[in-house]
Amino acid sequence: MTIDIFWRIPTHGEPSSHRSRKPFRGDWFPGDDSRRQAGLSGDDGFTYADYLAEIARAAEIAGFQGGLIPSFPMTDEPWVISSVLARETRTFRFMIPFQPGFLNPVVAARATASLQRATGGRALYNIITGGGGPQQLWWGDPVGHDDRYGRTTEFLDILRGVWRGGPFSYHGRFYQVEDAGLADPLSREEFPEIYFSGSSDAALASASKHADYYLTWLEPFAQLRDKFARVKERTDALGRKIKCAIRVDIVARPTEKEAWNEVERGFENIDPAVLAAHARRNEGSESVGARRQQALRPTTINSYKDLIIEPNVWSGFNLLRGGQTQGIVGSYEQVAERLDELVRLGADAFILAGTPHLEEAYRVGEEVLPLVRGRAGAPALRAVG
Ligand SMILES: Cc1cc2nc3c(=O)[nH]c(=O)nc-3n(C[C@H](O)[C@H](O)[C@H](O)COP(=O)(O)O)c2cc1C
Repeated sequence: MTIDIFWRIPTHGEPSSHRSRKPFRGDWFPGDDSRRQAGLSGDDGFTYADYLAEIARAAEIAGFQGGLIPSFPMTDEPWVISSVLARETRTFRFMIPFQPGFLNPVVAARATASLQRATGGRALYNIITGGGGPQQLWWGDPVGHDDRYGRTTEFLDILRGVWRGGPFSYHGRFYQVEDAGLADPLSREEFPEIYFSGSSDAALASASKHADYYLTWLEPFAQLRDKFARVKERTDALGRKIKCAIRVDIVARPTEKEAWNEVERGFENIDPAVLAAHARRNEGSESVGARRQQALRPTTINSYKDLIIEPNVWSGFNLLRGGQTQGIVGSYEQVAERLDELVRLGADAFILAGTPHLEEAYRVGEEVLPLVRGRAGAPALRAVG
């Protein structure tokens, strides 16, 4: 069995290195117009979307299958960005995260089938169900945690039901559909692979019914082994098979020392107030996944070394660029070895990322991926295309 490896498209903007906090890359200026005001951004017509396209093309050339396109209140919209990038790439696959509750399932099926038809089947999903709290209401969604997962399950029931044409009817708690079904030729398109993230019991119940891949952030390795075993057990009980995938931030350099030096330089530029708040972040969050990440942090942090939670695993990535906390730091060989270790404990796919995503796509693609042996020795990666 091959290992699927994706990159990430930074729709949240990004700095040019870990030493900078300013997400200026690609003409992205949230909350800070100083460069524009200083006249440093000429009218060259180069937009943020062009920068994302450069990353997608670099990742495609460097051997990644495709990319995750994050979806948060401060990001661009992943369905739209996928359509833009589709014409800029040839084989690159678009992993679109979305919360089922925000789209009618029949409309979502039609939009996905259209994207499949236009791109030769390059769309796939990351089904997210929402971390709750104020952010959930930002999206206008008042539904509680476990009910949201119930809604996700119904949504996916309908998506599958209508995909091959109708007539399909469904009477659930959240959705009613009568005699629906995609019309030909959309109904002939490949049903997209489903990645599914969420760490709660409610998430696992929904994932085991519908997901092709259970997706998690990086956690301590022993903890991940247990998590994967739990997901696989639940899915086996339904007579299905599920694969497991991990999102991993990476700092890979020719030597381990150079990699930690990069982390240290980034750490030295963190605002002390952000560092102080870091230890408390996600406390009381409704998201089980976010609380699992929070539980791994020390309460006081004096050095980047305080955030090393096991060999080559650093839990301060969200201090450098927001997002998830755990990632892998090391020489090219060490990073590849740790990825292989994750494969041995059950990973079938990775979504990797590094800052800045353009240069790091080439670095990780050229220096690290060829060293990943996968299950049965190199080459382990699923061929692009
Ligand atoms: C790898 C990964 C990527 C995620 N990406 C997004 C995202 O783009 N947007 C979002 O709102 N939530 C995202 N999430 C959050 C989860 O899908 C889920 O909503 C959250 O973990 C709360 O569910 P839980 O309580 O079951 O953990 C992501 C989670 C993981 C593990």
